[in-house]
Amino acid sequence: MCGIIGYVGHRQAVPVLLKGLKALEYRGYDSSGVALHTGASLSIVKRAGRLANLEKAIEQSNPTGCLGIGHTRWATHGVATDLNAHPFLSTYGKFAVVHNGIIANYLSLAASLRERGVNLTTDTDSEVVAHLIDHYYTGDVLSAVCRAARELKGSFALGVISVYEPNVLYGVRKDSPLVVGAGVNENAICSDISGISDFCGRLYAMQNGEIARVSTQGISLYDFYGKSRSFDLSPQEKEENSEREENEDYMHCEIRQTPLALLSGYESFPEKEAETVLSKPYDEILLVGCGSAYHAGLVFKGAMRELADTQVREEIASEYLTQKGGEKRNALVVAVSQSGETADTLLAVEKAKRQGATVLSVCNVRASSLVRLSDLAIITRCGRERAVAATKSYVAQVHSLLLLCLKYAEIKGKISKNKLNELKGEIAALPEKAERVIEEESYLSKVALAAKDAEAVFFLGRGQDCYAAKEGSLKLKEISYLFSEAYPSGELKHGTLALMEKGVYGVVIATDPALAEKNAATVAEITCRGASAIVVASEGIQPDMRADYVITVPDTHPLFSPVLTAIVLQEFAYYVAKARGCDVDRPRNLAKSVTVE
Ligand code: G6P
Repeated sequence: MCGIIGYVGHRQAVPVLLKGLKALEYRGYDSSGVALHTGASLSIVKRAGRLANLEKAIEQSNPTGCLGIGHTRWATHGVATDLNAHPFLSTYGKFAVVHNGIIANYLSLAASLRERGVNLTTDTDSEVVAHLIDHYYTGDVLSAVCRAARELKGSFALGVISVYEPNVLYGVRKDSPLVVGAGVNENAICSDISGISDFCGRLYAMQNGEIARVSTQGISLYDFYGKSRSFDLSPQEKEENSEREENEDYMHCEIRQTPLALLSGYESFPEKEAETVLSKPYDEILLVGCGSAYHAGLVFKGAMRELADTQVREEIASEYLTQKGGEKRNALVVAVSQSGETADTLLAVEKAKRQGATVLSVCNVRASSLVRLSDLAIITRCGRERAVAATKSYVAQVHSLLLLCLKYAEIKGKISKNKLNELKGEIAALPEKAERVIEEESYLSKVALAAKDAEAVFFLGRGQDCYAAKEGSLKLKEISYLFSEAYPSGELKHGTLALMEKGVYGVVIATDPALAEKNAATVAEITCRGASAIVVASEGIQPDMRADYVITVPDTHPLFSPVLTAIVLQEFAYYVAKARGCDVDRPRNLAKSVTVE
């Protein structure tokens, strides 16, 4: 969802910016660009397409300077061309700006700038920012940035440099993430720490309504009226699980890191804090999230229904935002998000908070906006996830939510001690079982090869397996671009069966022994229409399934099986995408962190 970076220091800025942009590329890769203070003027290089295009262009023009800003784009306003790539310059080249977010009032700003004779040259919402700052400049850059920031509506993280200050860059934040980092004789701003972590030992995650003035001498913070604010730089946390084999795709590496993520999540689950939050009486438990995080929430809903006899209302965050009325004042909101920066999820949480809700989040980034908004955050300790498709983070979310469900059932007296211990034992065994699933990946790669040219792939399941199916389908479509949908198996005969024919694949997830016969019937319904069937079943279930391929996962409690089947479905998607020649880490049109509504 666009990544921005800014650097000022004793080194040449270009290599620092390019390295940072590489780390930020997961946020968007439609175009990229840099702006540098060359001593006398601002110089810009920007290119549509992957970062490699920018690197090539930079090799030719070789711009130099120790102050610069950079951008990697996920296009929202304006197609991905060189022209629409960031940074943007003001008319006489005095200011350069990079932007992540959406300037909601850009049309009216553009109209009034045009009236004043400004020539806007791009289709983007972001270009107006550079002109606006220029318009308000009367000798003091900070004042001009403040004045412009007050006028902008929507969400924005901005990086700004000007020809007037060869040693200063500005970071501005409202509703889009931005961190400021301090190194030795060099400082930086960045959308997240990944772009600057190698040289900034101390960091500050900026709050909404703040402007950072960053120079080699230091960092100062202001509000949008130029009033100075105090802040603390904290030491950077050690990154977990970051090793990767040479040339390995991030997605593959991240799937392999799942067992470790589960182990860390189990050991660090905040029992006491969760008990305090869950003990209170609530009128409603509301779950919000987007994409894979929402799917993880569905598994929670299923487990809460069965184990804690409690109905969870689950809402896709963007849909929740459209609903009027019906709010329960005393709700517990469980918000799930890998990044903690997804705009829809944050807005949903803010909406619920306004109604008086308590917020418990499951998040992978401690220094995120979501964690700041939460009364309690359960941190999934997967380490950074760089591939756009969520893999280890989804499994870790499911795992943390299952632990949360058990805690809730225990506190509310919905479960016997023996049962609780038995289920905790099952959860504790999941990392080892996940490891076993990963060891079987070579078979999966063969199955994927067979399905790589499928006309469509339908994922089917009942109960928890249906929720797992939804995630499996999402994974496949986002990285392989194959058409795919997920349905409850029982719904197959109410419409989707009409699409079953040769060339179509049905992936049936069948982990619950109590549903073995029904699942076998689903497989039969698919294969007798000429479609191919792939079954993902628990080891203990060997029903008479006439499937083309059967992939087994270790037995576990059926409510917990999505932890294991998710790994199979992620690897299936991965190998299908590889066989189709797709860029698995950076699928087209998508971004990892969607910081606009
Ligand atoms: C994007 C990503 C998905 C992710 C979703 C929610 O669409 O591509 O993989 O599931 O955002 O992200 P979050 O950071 O809130 O979990």
